[in-house]
Amino acid sequence: MNEKLVTAFNVQINAELYSEYLYLAMKAIFEEQHLTGFANWFNVQVQEEHAHAMGLYNYVHERGGKVRLDAIAKPDFKEGGILDIFEQVLKHEQLVTAKINALADEADNAKDRAAVSFLDWYVKEQVEEEASVRQIISNLKLIGDDKKALLMLDRELAARTFVQPVIG
Ligand code: FEO
Repeated sequence: MNEKLVTAFNVQINAELYSEYLYLAMKAIFEEQHLTGFANWFNVQVQEEHAHAMGLYNYVHERGGKVRLDAIAKPDFKEGGILDIFEQVLKHEQLVTAKINALADEADNAKDRAAVSFLDWYVKEQVEEEASVRQIISNLKLIGDDKKALLMLDRELAARTFVQPVIG
């Protein structure tokens, strides 16, 4: 890969590790409230983000590039109600989608067909990421102040498991 594209991949590795760190911070909020299903959902999210970062990391190596890790920023979000937090998750995922699209554009500009094809997985993954968060947001809106329904959703989210993705 050309150097500009390698740098862009390294920037995205940092963005994925930041996502992992952000969701780890959000998980702590739910742990504190003993909402273990929500905490589990974030725990799976943490593992997914780590896998996303490692997919890029391994690909840079595979293509003979240099992985250069940068500092991970402090998680930036407002502790509010559950719906507020998920709305911030959606906003964050939309930002990640824009970053992935920009990275795919870089690969396109470099006429690097292999990198474009590799990044297709991430483009599709972002569609799923956003859809799953939207689903939770609409459930939370329906639930409103109904605590019993909230506990039912918490139980449902407790069933989410991490499946190691096959990237690329
Ligand atoms: Fe790695 Fe949630 O996007």
